[in-house]
Amino acid sequence: MLLLKTMQKVNPMKAIFFEKFGTRDVLQFGDRPEPAPQQKELLIEVERSSVNYVDIRERQGTYNRPETHVGGIELPHISGLQAVGTVIAAGSKEDKVWIGKKVVAYTPKGGGYAQKVVAETSFCVEIPESANADLFAALPNQGLTAYLLLTASTQIQPGESVLVQGASGGVGSLAVQIAKILGAGTVLGTASTSEKLDFIRSLGADDAIDYTREDWTKRVLENTSGRGVDVLLESIGGNIFEQNFECLAPFGRHIIFGSTRGPGQPFAPRRLMQKSQTMTGFYLPVFLAKPELIQAGMEFLVKATLEEKLRPSIARILPLSQTAEAHRLLEDREIQGTILLDTK
Ligand SMILES: NC(=O)c1ccc[n+]([C@@H]2O[C@H](COP(=O)([O-])OP(=O)(O)OC[C@H]3O[C@@H](n4cnc5c(N)ncnc54)[C@H](OP(=O)(O)O)[C@@H]3O)[C@@H](O)[C@H]2O)c1
Repeated sequence: MLLLKTMQKVNPMKAIFFEKFGTRDVLQFGDRPEPAPQQKELLIEVERSSVNYVDIRERQGTYNRPETHVGGIELPHISGLQAVGTVIAAGSKEDKVWIGKKVVAYTPKGGGYAQKVVAETSFCVEIPESANADLFAALPNQGLTAYLLLTASTQIQPGESVLVQGASGGVGSLAVQIAKILGAGTVLGTASTSEKLDFIRSLGADDAIDYTREDWTKRVLENTSGRGVDVLLESIGGNIFEQNFECLAPFGRHIIFGSTRGPGQPFAPRRLMQKSQTMTGFYLPVFLAKPELIQAGMEFLVKATLEEKLRPSIARILPLSQTAEAHRLLEDREIQGTILLDTK
């Protein structure tokens, strides 16, 4: 009887989930039990969530390998690291004041590909009821990555030059804009098609460079009076990784945060001595150990968007049921900005 009562309390919700790792076919659309907020957590009725490239790696099982596994994934799993919606329940008495508020939430344990998601209260920021959910749903994971790359992995100084690799993507398109907001000088972005290059210029980049051309590094040098860039944000890997050093300035900081083309060749660290350069790695989940930096980042992103200094780029809005198509669009590189999911 007690068991029956407990079961009756769990409401079903629509979600995208997977029970095994693999290709896009493993993504299932169906009913899952609504999550229950624990202490210091809020339950959010999701209006919009969105898709990150890391969701693809998670689905493929890449993040389940010992060397990349931070935090762990239990199957079945619902991905989704960012969401906007209305708070409908709170796990802690003191958090009941959040109920009814519209929030943007960073959900590092996933769960955003659903009609309801649980988020830590400290990773939620209130936004006005009238705020456009589409703009804010693109922010948390991709925006935090862009912001922390420029403020925690390195502290960008006024006037410094920045090169953002893959600048038409979710993280890249925000990084170009955030670099400018933080006072960077020349900001350059790379991409693979002329349409994406136009898009990068429209974000405020000083130049956009086709990195499928063998001589792309020359154009970076031309834009920086032959010095190279002070800060290089690198998420591509492959042969791009090695070429980066042709256009990194003396004292330049090279930050690795992704490998869309694979890891590239082994690197001899002593080459950094030649120009007193630094190489740093970045992995956002590690920053969960520094929640104050995540909170500061969330506040910055929401404020800059409300003030219209930051304009997250919405590539498409797809129904939640078509999340597999969203993964295809990212895997086939057909996207500029962020793909949102309509969970209604
Ligand atoms: N370390 C972390 O904590 C962290 C956090 C968030 C994201 N990331 C990484 O940051 C990168 C960008 O993430 P995102 O969510 O912004 O992804 P996204 O929107 O899909 O953007 C990826 C960009 O990479 C470029 N790209 C180059 N080679 C590619 C390939 N073989 N497949 C797919 N894209 C390729 C694409 O531009 P072109 O087609 O013009 O080349 C695209 O603009 C990913 O590598 C992701 O894993 C890391």
